[in-house]
Amino acid sequence: MTGRILLREETLEPSFVPDRLPHRERELALLRERFSHAALAGRSWSQLLTGGIGSGKTALAGRLARELDSPRQGGLRTLYVNCWRRNNDRAVLLELLKAVGFPLPDRGYSLSEMVDSLEAGLRKMDQPALLVLDEVTSLLRQGSKLIYLLTRGPEVGLGRVSLLLIAPQDVLPLLDAASRSGFGVTHRLHLPAYSWEELADILEARAAVALRPGTCSREVAEQVARVAAPQSDARLAVELLLGAATRAEQRGAEEIAADDVRYSKASLYPTFTEGRLEGLPPHSLLVLLALARTLKGPGSWVGVDRVRQAYASVAEEFSTEPQSRVTFWRTVKGLEREGLISLEPSGPGKAARVSQDEMPVSLLEMVLQERLGKARRAKP
Ligand SMILES: Nc1ncnc2c1ncn2[C@@H]1O[C@H](COP(=O)(O)OP(=O)(O)OP(=O)(O)O)[C@@H](O)[C@H]1O
Ligand SMILES: [Mg+2]
Repeated sequence: MTGRILLREETLEPSFVPDRLPHRERELALLRERFSHAALAGRSWSQLLTGGIGSGKTALAGRLARELDSPRQGGLRTLYVNCWRRNNDRAVLLELLKAVGFPLPDRGYSLSEMVDSLEAGLRKMDQPALLVLDEVTSLLRQGSKLIYLLTRGPEVGLGRVSLLLIAPQDVLPLLDAASRSGFGVTHRLHLPAYSWEELADILEARAAVALRPGTCSREVAEQVARVAAPQSDARLAVELLLGAATRAEQRGAEEIAADDVRYSKASLYPTFTEGRLEGLPPHSLLVLLALARTLKGPGSWVGVDRVRQAYASVAEEFSTEPQSRVTFWRTVKGLEREGLISLEPSGPGKAARVSQDEMPVSLLEMVLQERLGKARRAKP
């Protein structure tokens, strides 16, 4: 039985390569053009792809592999190796040999025998090869000879192999001069960090594949994007979406609500410990409590004026004189600086709004009430 919300949960798993990669279409077209142009002309192409964590490097390589496999695009067959834990030439070669269908036991063969086998394997393939070496930094740090051999494919008898190296930062300084010469400006591509709007578009595209239509509003996508935006990490964004969808489904809801996102964030990143509330002055706690109460509705934002009204009655509840408008505003700004809330300033025809994505509001409310209640009881 499929769930009410998660129709294709597996498409939110990290290994799934989506068909659509919003905000990476231009990069995909560029890479496809470079590799297929070379392949159709009987040449190979070497490329370095860099970008931050979760910027879509591996996903882009996966999509590229699919497209280049067609005869019209040069009919390249991709052999993919993640070098993160295979940070020496032997380990990477063993993987490549498996991929070309010439597996060798990991003992008893010299590097050059292994390269010979790779050569034989590549020759037997009826397609030109594209070797994707992902997370290649530590391999290069070890002083890899393999990269040199691969960039010199035709001269060393390896034939026509195209190469895609993937790393978070520029690794060319780690290459020897001869290999580096194959990576001129057109052979390097850096993926810029995703903005939060871009992350929201990505989440909408992922939700369209994985979730029942109408269960993830744009507002929810934007809320998740906001949480992931400081890191610009699409992996984190997708993981948060999966967490929120799972939680919404578990509570039998028809769609994902703002609080499901907060739950998801709190369970992935239990950073909002009570400790963070400890140093806060009493009025900050009162404002947070007012915010938690006003955020109980469906949306992820609430107007500052509504929070201020709620704050006045919360202050009364705890027998405290409410602060003036100016001081209240200063307290809100202080909470924003602490990273406890997000503040969207007013614009033309738009009032200022606040949100709190760190913690489920009911939990926040409970913790604050307890803390404020204790403080009141402690008063002489
Ligand atoms: N433009 C996009 N559209 C849809 N999904 C995306 C997009 N970019 C990234 N993703 C998804 O976000 C997750 C992280 O992307 P990916 O694994 O490609 O990042 P990466 O740059 O390789 O990160 P790392 O350096 O940590 O390996 C994956 O699940 C991927 O499918
Ligand atoms: Mg990756």
